[in-house]
Amino acid sequence: MISLSETPRLVEPTTAVRVSCLTGEQADMRSRGADTSWLAAASTDFEAFVAERVGVRERWGVPSTLFWFVSGEHYLGSLVVRHRLTEDEGGGHIGYHVVQPWQRQGHATRMLAQGLVVARSLGVDRVLLTVAPDNEWSRRVVIANGGVAEDGLNHEGEQRFWVGS
Ligand SMILES: CC(C)(COP(=O)(O)OP(=O)(O)OC[C@H]1O[C@@H](n2cnc3c(N)ncnc32)[C@H](O)[C@@H]1OP(=O)(O)O)[C@@H](O)C(=O)NCCC(=O)NCCS
Repeated sequence: MISLSETPRLVEPTTAVRVSCLTGEQADMRSRGADTSWLAAASTDFEAFVAERVGVRERWGVPSTLFWFVSGEHYLGSLVVRHRLTEDEGGGHIGYHVVQPWQRQGHATRMLAQGLVVARSLGVDRVLLTVAPDNEWSRRVVIANGGVAEDGLNHEGEQRFWVGS
């Protein structure tokens, strides 16, 4: 197991983790049988790939900020904070993933804890998280971070959890 010398933290996308990001995402995509074609462009011009992802951007029709979870040279995953809910509330305020080589080491649980602090700093006091019913691992991440489940499923068939008051 690779030991991390620095506590992982959420940072804005950075070219400093180029190799780790590309190889981590590739391993993750392949482990899920997902499309890896976007990696070709990202690896050819990583500076542009990063530049397109830095700062507050309008995505899903709302202001959103993307963070990478990074320890030194290592890229572990990403987290996006939507500053407000989309019209249909799909996806909630925060979405995240940990790339496959770094999964099951508590990183998502700690990453979401940091993401909740970021959300609060953006004025989101009550955070909505949505999880597919078959995503037991993400459900555990949310519950470990104080998520309280609502009955029923939303229009996307996902369970809604609220953190904060
Ligand atoms: C869901 C996901 C973020 C979990 O990341 P992670 O870093 O492995 O999560 P953690 O290490 O914090 O583990 C959370 C819990 O899930 C369990 N878990 C994670 N991976 C597991 C696996 N492969 N098998 C069994 N349990 C697993 C952990 O043991 C832990 O349980 P515990 O709290 O009872 O100890 C990751 O699998 C992922 O990115 N999946 C794809 C994208 C996704 O689903 N995002 C969330 C959308 S809502």
